[in-house]
Amino acid sequence: MSTAKVLLQLDPDPQVSTFDSVVAVDAGVDQLFRHGGVTADQVRGLVYGLIFTRSPAELKNSAIFVGGGDVPQAETLLKEATSSFFGPMRVSILFDPNGANTTAAAAVIAAGRHLPLDGAEALVLAGTGPVGQRAARLLARQGARVRVASRKLDKATAVCDALKADIPDGTFLPLAVSDDAGLADALQGAAVVIAAGAANVQLASEPSLRSASDLKVLIDLNAAPPVGLEGVDPMDKAKERDGRICYGAIGVGGTKMKIHKQALVRIFEQNDLVLNAEEIYEIGCGLE
Ligand SMILES: NC(=O)c1ccc[n+]([C@@H]2O[C@H](COP(=O)([O-])OP(=O)(O)OC[C@H]3O[C@@H](n4cnc5c(N)ncnc54)[C@H](OP(=O)(O)O)[C@@H]3O)[C@@H](O)[C@H]2O)c1
Repeated sequence: MSTAKVLLQLDPDPQVSTFDSVVAVDAGVDQLFRHGGVTADQVRGLVYGLIFTRSPAELKNSAIFVGGGDVPQAETLLKEATSSFFGPMRVSILFDPNGANTTAAAAVIAAGRHLPLDGAEALVLAGTGPVGQRAARLLARQGARVRVASRKLDKATAVCDALKADIPDGTFLPLAVSDDAGLADALQGAAVVIAAGAANVQLASEPSLRSASDLKVLIDLNAAPPVGLEGVDPMDKAKERDGRICYGAIGVGGTKMKIHKQALVRIFEQNDLVLNAEEIYEIGCGLE
């Protein structure tokens, strides 16, 4: 009898994400062990329960998903989980709190379909949230020169400093965008814009976007009206509007779902993977 695929879901939120559970089942997981409200001090015991019940050869059929809405909290769970492993006693982990990694990967892959990202000027509007920070990170990894916009310059600067520490070769420019003039400056010369703002928040009006003459690709990750980039429909998927390529949140979401499912498949192929932003992006590239 083959060993069942079991997935330990570690979620700092009180209620484990139903979304993440459904995707896991659809990706072929046999048994889900769903733990919500998980704190860092509880992780080791949960992980030991997973790694001590099967032989090293069988451990590729056990894996961990770290999710939740609070990305910094989820990062502490990830750190605890990986530090609980030793020798062959380990399992693969998919890290996708808030869908941030899979969504950012899908957005950057979408942009890369239409122009070379190496050397491209890219603007991430509201680049301070979990999705925006990862989009900025992945753009920089591809060689783009990344502008990170926030309503507050110090917030954008903090994000750029953290990214620069991780990617010393990266080019990051923090920008304050809180009005049309700031937006026009931020858009000046940008070929790609990814809008990663909170739900129900418009970040750029249609006239502002139209007057940004270098823009080639517009990607909006907010599906809840008003959308982030006025004039981009959530369903847009490589839709040409005014000579530019547009993606809306649902258009990007299809790719995000494929990446999420494939990443779940990958963590059951071997027991020593930690899939974070870069690894998830590579999986997405492999699906193109
Ligand atoms: N398509 C998909 O598959 C998918 C999956 C996951 C998430 N999403 C979407 O991706 C987007 C980003 O997600 P997230 O979790 O990273 O977002 P978030 O943390 O909720 O917000 C991102 C940023 O939006 C800015 N913001 C918040 N309220 C604002 C307001 N009232 N006016 C202007 N700016 C405001 C903030 O930036 P500053 O304070 O720095 O200005 C914040 O850091 C969301 O719209 C989410 O729904 C899409």
